[in-house]
Amino acid sequence: MTGAPLAPYPALRLRRLRQADWTRRMVRETSLSPADLIWSMVVHEGEGVVPVASMPGVARLSVTEAAKAAVEARALGIPAIAVFPYIDGEKKDRHGSKAADPEGLISRAVKAMKDAAPEVGIMCDVALDPFTDHGHDGVIEGGRIHNDATIERLIEQGLVQAQAGCDILAPSDMMDGRVGALRTALEAAGLQDTMIMSYAAKYASAFYGPYRDAIGSGKLGGGDVNNPGDKKTYQMDPANTDEALREVALDIAEGADMVMVKPGMPYLDIVRRVVETFAMPTFAFQVSGEYAMIMAAAQNGWIDEERAILESLGAFKRAGCAGVITYFAPRAARMLGA
Ligand code: PBG
Repeated sequence: MTGAPLAPYPALRLRRLRQADWTRRMVRETSLSPADLIWSMVVHEGEGVVPVASMPGVARLSVTEAAKAAVEARALGIPAIAVFPYIDGEKKDRHGSKAADPEGLISRAVKAMKDAAPEVGIMCDVALDPFTDHGHDGVIEGGRIHNDATIERLIEQGLVQAQAGCDILAPSDMMDGRVGALRTALEAAGLQDTMIMSYAAKYASAFYGPYRDAIGSGKLGGGDVNNPGDKKTYQMDPANTDEALREVALDIAEGADMVMVKPGMPYLDIVRRVVETFAMPTFAFQVSGEYAMIMAAAQNGWIDEERAILESLGAFKRAGCAGVITYFAPRAARMLGA
């Protein structure tokens, strides 16, 4: 018996370059380093750390713990932290009034982190959902999310964040025109160095589920006629790809410095199109549901946890991302030998 013929050229053996670790490293096309990671972090008003049940390994951090985490990020070579607030229920209302509180949790967390580790960039979500009792990202009028009324609130919120020392505003609300409005307001306030990373192509996704638990989000569609059941009138339809390019083009024209695709792994085709079309620094958000899926499978012994974490993050680099916003950031940085 002879072996199967190697058609058409017997000498073509792609396995030759895979034969040893050194050959694989030598021809590797992309790499992952701590500099590619933005640490997604949740803060709360209380003391200490409070584990998030649906996200094993993730906890809400007090302001003091967040400052320590910023120091840790610096030591690990993680360039930036994206901070999200868990707001106590009694502080929420229909209009998200506390979103622009200069003494609020986000302002205090940003200041504490910048004091502790000024070399670490801080990014803040510009969106009302942690502050609204209905969990939507905008102001509801007549059963609809009112675009322009929401933008007014987002400008107040973004300015407060920037004044607290936030380096990167990340509008995640998906209102039309918010990037331009924020950019104009920043310029007028003398905050021209504040960067904007827009959640440009953000989809109405089931993968945000655990985040709602993590930040104690109000219940969408709570039965009230004034609480639409989902975010499909502002976040994108998961079936669309050309529309993502229009969203990104607009945000760039309005003054975004960086753009983001969200969720991450199920949307790497969108990342690739955005990178190839615009050649802008493009990030993706490995969201809470992606984190929870990996951890749940690993805890059942169904996948190798560490390999799955690094493989998933490496996939973002291969797709063309400048970096990844991820809850795995500190663990991955440690695995990468920082
Ligand atoms: C809110 C916001 C969401 C996330 C980041 N910012 C949820 C949503 O839009 O419903 C999701 C983050 C995650 O799932 O990890 N505007």
